Amino acid sequence: MSRERPTGKVRQEKLRVGVLASGRGSNLQAIIDAIEAGRLDARITVVLSNKKDAQALDRARRHGLTDVFFDPKPYAGQVDGRDAYDRAVLDVLRKYDVELVLLAGYMRIVTPVLIRAYKDRIMNIHPSLLPAFPGLEVQKKAVDWGAKIAGCTVHFVTEGVDEGPIIIQAAVPILEGDSAQTLSARILQQEHRIYPRAVQLYAEGRLRVEGRRVCVAGASDTEMGALVSPSS
Ligand code: GRF
Repeated sequence: MSRERPTGKVRQEKLRVGVLASGRGSNLQAIIDAIEAGRLDARITVVLSNKKDAQALDRARRHGLTDVFFDPKPYAGQVDGRDAYDRAVLDVLRKYDVELVLLAGYMRIVTPVLIRAYKDRIMNIHPSLLPAFPGLEVQKKAVDWGAKIAGCTVHFVTEGVDEGPIIIQAAVPILEGDSAQTLSARILQQEHRIYPRAVQLYAEGRLRVEGRRVCVAGASDTEMGALVSPSS
């Protein structure tokens, strides 16, 4: 389907997306569901995992998508093993003509090999309001810190981990009595809303990276915009 974009560009074909995932794959599922529901003008051409038994690969297969397990073990002993692995991943992404790469619970640090080849074309979803709480187990860190607002962030991937320009964030209140688990579950619901939105904005040619900032063309803060507040 082609559509007139606010930028004036017309896409003749659906955006070709590649998803890298290591585990459960609920964000992958949210992307698949949005595509199947017609809310996302994209096509997943490949789902790649570094984990053979990743549930994400099962989800891909169930929806008739191409799934690839790419074993990191043979690269582990090599001096530039991480780069070599990412060069091989890059070959897979190119083979499947991927335009935009989505990290969805991908538990590897992506090297400059991929980041430079896909500059401003790799997105990640992170379960905190960056720049607060980068890294791992961040829902627990937010609860332990006594923060009142947590949330999630979709951002472009740059060479600094969890540091790239922010596309969309959703705020999630931390309630009295919240544990890392209960908070994670509520954040996850918001992740599933904002990731497909971010990809749709990209598909519509509405995202422009200017330094640290991502400008969203034609967006108000509440409708298809860059902020999802608890009530929206
Ligand atoms: C999500 O919380 C995401 O924010 C983080 O890893 C988790 C992946 O979950 N990067 P899933 O595999 O998408 O269910």
